[in-house]
Amino acid sequence: MTYREFLKQNETTATNTHKEASAIQKLIMEYLNLTPTEWYFNLDKEIDDIDNLQKIVDKYLIDNIPIQYILGYTYFYGLKFYVNQNVLIPRYDTEILVEEVLKYIGEKTCKVVDIGVGSGCIAISLKKYSPQIDMIGVDISQEAIDIAKKNAIFNSVDIDFRVSDLLENVNEQIDIIVSNPPYISSNDYVEKIVKDNEPHIALFALEDGMFYYKQILKQSLTKLSFYGMIFFEIGYNQKDKIISLIKEYYPNSKIKVVKDLNNIDRVVIVYCNQ
Ligand SMILES: C[S@@+](CC[C@H](N)C(=O)[O-])C[C@H]1O[C@@H](n2cnc3c(N)ncnc32)[C@H](O)[C@@H]1O
Repeated sequence: MTYREFLKQNETTATNTHKEASAIQKLIMEYLNLTPTEWYFNLDKEIDDIDNLQKIVDKYLIDNIPIQYILGYTYFYGLKFYVNQNVLIPRYDTEILVEEVLKYIGEKTCKVVDIGVGSGCIAISLKKYSPQIDMIGVDISQEAIDIAKKNAIFNSVDIDFRVSDLLENVNEQIDIIVSNPPYISSNDYVEKIVKDNEPHIALFALEDGMFYYKQILKQSLTKLSFYGMIFFEIGYNQKDKIISLIKEYYPNSKIKVVKDLNNIDRVVIVYCNQ
């Protein structure tokens, strides 16, 4: 069987089982480490070890495992990150959060904390593109911190990673808090592939998804410098709830909301005392 036939057959299975057909080509190309040109020139060649390749593809089609966990890595903000089932798979939407923080930081030297680092994708991207900052990354999960450390070494950045329940183990004064905390409410629909594979500690939050935002805002009152900033990623329906929560803790704050590429409110920027 040629790669073209193999692709077509498995894409059909994907479509028939309501999975993403485009994931098949991505998985094969990454697994075989082929550039788009190499892939194109290989399409009509016979597959050497079809059983093995089918086994890999079946992990997605039958076992319902995301391709990023099958491969063990993914890309975020132009960088490569190792992932496993202890960390959330970095999402494209989160790149908007990184983009906004980088725009604000520019050349400033400041102390930044990423709360809930997971794979480290936010903290590592910030440090990579604004190397002058002092970057701390915290997560309650030791397994996540282990992956984040591995990714920091791989991407050659120096970050102070700590296991910490939110800001509990951060006692120095901070200039910027960045967080993509767990924010899915128990009422929200979650795709089966996400629910079955990604760590629930990274996904769900009590109080209609507001629990972690509330805790972070509360803790920030004593840890953030007077002109400090908070950058949150939020869920598609959380803008109004988060704005009224922020106003409870920072009545004088200026708040900006940024939409993602699908025109959904995605990032909230808090100028805490302006
Ligand atoms: C939505 S994930 C974000 C991961 C990563 N920053 C990203 O954007 O891909 C939320 C992260 O918060 C961590 N987390 C959950 N509860 C926490 C807590 N109480 N303190 C610190 N981190 C926590 C989870 O382990 C998870 O890694």
